[in-house]
Amino acid sequence: MSAPTPEADGIVTITPTENGPYEVVGQVRIISPDGTVLRETGKAYLCRCGHSANKPFCDSSHRREGWSEASDSEDSAE
Ligand code: FES
Repeated sequence: MSAPTPEADGIVTITPTENGPYEVVGQVRIISPDGTVLRETGKAYLCRCGHSANKPFCDSSHRREGWSEASDSEDSAE
């Protein structure tokens, strides 16, 4: 028996991808600080590198910037 999918059990799952964004799976509503609904979706990729020009969403800038989890840890250790 396999684990229930987020769509089936209603649980939203947030998973950091390898050297990339957070993958959000499950029905979510993403809202800006002023309350504007940015997106209602069953899947989204949220920036965790800080370089996206379209925050909170990933725009693949992490690749151009060469961001990695290891480099981020090195930055925060300074
Ligand atoms: S994680 Fe992709 S632009 Fe930041």
